[in-house]
Amino acid sequence: MIKKILKIAVIAAIVGFAAIQFWRPDRTNASIDPKNTLEAHLEVPQNVSAILERSCNDCHSDKTVWPWYSNVAPMSWGVADHVHEGRKELNFSVWGTYKDRRKNHKLKEVCEQVEKREMPHNQYLWLHSEATLTDSDVKTLCDWSKELMKQFAAADPKNSAPKGEEPKERD
Ligand code: HEC
Repeated sequence: MIKKILKIAVIAAIVGFAAIQFWRPDRTNASIDPKNTLEAHLEVPQNVSAILERSCNDCHSDKTVWPWYSNVAPMSWGVADHVHEGRKELNFSVWGTYKDRRKNHKLKEVCEQVEKREMPHNQYLWLHSEATLTDSDVKTLCDWSKELMKQFAAADPKNSAPKGEEPKERD
């Protein structure tokens, strides 16, 4: 009896696993307009671009390298979700389409997120240990973003929001 129930359970699990494979999330990379990339608008030194490439671009650019497990449901749903959410918040491939205020805010967030070790997500690091940031990577990113924010503020004082104030619109 128990054997039979087990057998049915195993078959149901296999059929279920096969069935969910039909729900395939969107895993496309939009084509990149070279005019709009981060590099086209800001100075990105080689050491900074190497860190972004290694630790951020999978979720914050249109240069995502989709891993093999992103082919397999249910992992595929989680991966695609992170990439879509990540791009929505910050996509270095469309940087040029952001307003100055948003750019400034995102630069501030880059430093904050890595200093707090919120980015890259722990889940991602389990499978991409090479993306782990060292203390010196964090410093490199923060020095870079702070310097650019200074330049932004110097170019237009409106860009430097008073301390503590967040932009009203979601950005
Ligand atoms: C596995 C995907 C993934 C990776 C890798 C990743 N992020 Fe994110 N990032 C997200 C997602 C998803 C969000 C949306 C908010 C959240 O989940 O915390 C986000 C949000 C952000 C934000 C926006 C925060 C805000 O409130 O404006 C910044 C800035 C950011 N990430 C920077 C980085 C940096 C810098 C790296 C690399 C060091 C990185 N992220 C790596 C997925 C990722």
